[in-house]
Amino acid sequence: MGATTAYALMLRALFREIILIDRDEALAEAEAMDISDAGVLARPTHVRSGNFADAASARIAVLTAGAATHGSESRLSVTARSADIVQSCIRDLVAAGFDGLLIVAANSVDLMAWVAKDVSGFPGHRVIGTGTLLDSSRLQQTIAARLNVAASSVDALMIGEHGDSSVAALSIARIGGVALESIEAGTRPNAADLAEEVRGAAYKIIEGKGYTSFGVATAIVRICEAIVRDEHAVVPVSTLLTGQYGITDLYLSLPCILGETGVERVLTPHLSQSETAALIASANMLRTAKHALDR
Ligand code: 2OP
Repeated sequence: MGATTAYALMLRALFREIILIDRDEALAEAEAMDISDAGVLARPTHVRSGNFADAASARIAVLTAGAATHGSESRLSVTARSADIVQSCIRDLVAAGFDGLLIVAANSVDLMAWVAKDVSGFPGHRVIGTGTLLDSSRLQQTIAARLNVAASSVDALMIGEHGDSSVAALSIARIGGVALESIEAGTRPNAADLAEEVRGAAYKIIEGKGYTSFGVATAIVRICEAIVRDEHAVVPVSTLLTGQYGITDLYLSLPCILGETGVERVLTPHLSQSETAALIASANMLRTAKHALDR
């Protein structure tokens, strides 16, 4: 996922330099060389391998290292293994003097973003999990296919955990400005089917190719872009909640305004009763998993 992300970032030409860090230094160097070859033909970003000290002055660090899920393993099941990796990377990065923004993509991403924030001691707005940005694009794609409209005309959010308890906020979904809920029953896609299809998407990709990479890499690019260009774009990402919907001290996805300082504001759309209940259930489940991390 790291090399795919670096490749996608290079194509977007957002940064002057991208440094790949991996425990396997030879692998990082080979990936950097391969991406550099593509870069000469495509974009003038300097891509190289390096260590944490090399990345100390970086504006953004993207953490993709973590334990991979296999087959039908849930993202939550790799939490403990990923936590050790995330903790060690963030500790080394911060010890090297890094003081920028952290984007965390390792699963289970909501808990890993919380660990990264905890270990770094950075304020919450500077530690962002990729969260349900990917799930939201999957939802847009699914709704678009069912209604035969362009995905770019679908405004729809998945919120909560990036995982099996994610919540499709369909009460606020709009198609070309028209509320999804106002579309005639019969034509309107079934809410439960939509949510199931989105939650199952990663499992289906993993069944076919063993891992997912392009979707999450592009979600990372989108987050970097909103930050580097100080866009103030509303993007669903995993962020530290400080009382929204009664949830505190947990990372969960809600629509956030992203700009050069990271998460500039967390939005709290008016959800239906069942969506609010599902969001709180998602938070309770994550809180239990967070306690199990025993940190
Ligand atoms: C994804 O949703 C597995 O979290 C990864 O693609």
